[in-house]
Amino acid sequence: MDSIAILDFGSQYAQLIARRVREANVYCELFPWDALESQVLEIDPKGFILSGGPASVYAPNAPQIPGYVLESGLPILGICYGMQALTNALGGRVAPSDEREYGPANLETVLPNPIIEKGWHKVWMSHGDRVEVPPVGFEVLARSGNSPAGFIGDIPRKYYGLQFHPEVRHTPEGAKFLRRFVIDVCGINPDWTPESIILASIDRIRDQVGDGKVLAAVSGGVDSSVAVALVHRAIGDQLAAVFVDNGLLRQGEVHQVISAFNQELGIELVAVDAVEEFLTALRDITEPEEKRRVIGETFIRVFESKAVDLGGADFLVQGTIYPDVVESQAADRSKVDRIKTHHNVGGLPEDMQFELVEPLRYLFKDEVRAVGETLGFPREMVWRQPFPGPGLAVRCLGEVTKDRLARLRAADEILRAELAEAGLLIIESREDGVKGTAQAFAVLLPVRSVGVMGDQRTYQEAIALRAVTTEDFMTADWARLPHELLARIANRIVNEVQGVNRVVYDITSKPPATIEWE
Ligand code: XMP
Repeated sequence: MDSIAILDFGSQYAQLIARRVREANVYCELFPWDALESQVLEIDPKGFILSGGPASVYAPNAPQIPGYVLESGLPILGICYGMQALTNALGGRVAPSDEREYGPANLETVLPNPIIEKGWHKVWMSHGDRVEVPPVGFEVLARSGNSPAGFIGDIPRKYYGLQFHPEVRHTPEGAKFLRRFVIDVCGINPDWTPESIILASIDRIRDQVGDGKVLAAVSGGVDSSVAVALVHRAIGDQLAAVFVDNGLLRQGEVHQVISAFNQELGIELVAVDAVEEFLTALRDITEPEEKRRVIGETFIRVFESKAVDLGGADFLVQGTIYPDVVESQAADRSKVDRIKTHHNVGGLPEDMQFELVEPLRYLFKDEVRAVGETLGFPREMVWRQPFPGPGLAVRCLGEVTKDRLARLRAADEILRAELAEAGLLIIESREDGVKGTAQAFAVLLPVRSVGVMGDQRTYQEAIALRAVTTEDFMTADWARLPHELLARIANRIVNEVQGVNRVVYDITSKPPATIEWE
């Protein structure tokens, strides 16, 4: 498969560049700028994209464009720092600057070129230094008020430099510019589609596994579900997929997961009812980290004993996705083969040795979802909001009991149903902005307050509603849900859920709060 290598010079947007290229149906991988040449060339790139970065090309030890990139004769697109490094390497001049140009700019095309058409274009700038004199052979192809060399290129050599950031949404035509570079300039056939991803994954899984036995833990989350479905496509009955019902899932979820696998995908899940085991282990525990520890430990015990019942296995499926890989990409990618398995769904056996099968290792979340839909998962499952491994235990503040879980589940279901009805239960990026909630749930508080129902005094627990918008879950803002909707949800909860007489809405952002309450 034709591919693009993206060298990361320390840009906060490097993953976005990769996502835009993938959205153009072109495979690409992201490497640290100083990755081993052999590692980068292994993907047989048909072109390079050099990302932005915080350094100045004249700073001591500033990252340089590796020699093999310039010697390859392949097309190069430098973005921001990447453009400045390219200019510097090829003998042009970069002007240091103390002031950053940050924000929108209008770019005017001055010479015909294969990437940006004639006319004016809105672009997003974020740079300090800028190119003063392009290298010999380069021409200014477009400029903006503050960047006389906003876009430069040596068209015959297929070398280009963009001062602005095409990868961010603030550059509305940016994705198109990147697509033209990878498809028209590099000549790549855009064949990276969910169908081709599935076919390639199947081959890779078969190669890796041979006739070995494979075990998987399904949590109901998108990643583990899609990973398991791909492995099943590849090796069928050599796979045993275990679903542990820990009693901490949301209303209807156990049934939804089992029936999605059985009916839509024809995969027989080995369901383990471990509800009593988890609840017994959680008895009297109120401290959040202790809850997590106990749940992780119980999961391992249950999974291990099931694995033994099933006669063991050589391989374990894990739903690692590309952003996890990029973040831990410390140069040595070969290390990941035979390692002890630890945390994913809720902790995995420490002392069992499995080789990991990671079919989503090179996929972004949106690609995992697209593959999921193509494999036949229902939409609600593919677009499901993230759900923490310890489940409702960390949303049931205080003691986790069967009754309190039932109360929480009922309230949570009302919130979710009303949000779904209002079209706000999934996050959608649209032309007019982002709509919906990235995560929304109910929290049962271990606090009782006085209320009045009919003529009766009540003294019952409270529910907090939490709904946030976020892109990365590292920071988040509380969702500005319509008051009418909040009123309806609160009303329904106090009327329909036994033991709850008060509903509050959490209006803290993260930081200083976190998304979950525990
Ligand atoms: P916080 O509460 O830290 O949550 O703002 C950020 C994201 O992580 C999820 N989360 C967890 N996921 N195990 C998980 O698998 C956990 O123990 C856990 N705690 C928080 C949370 O739901 C949110 O998406």
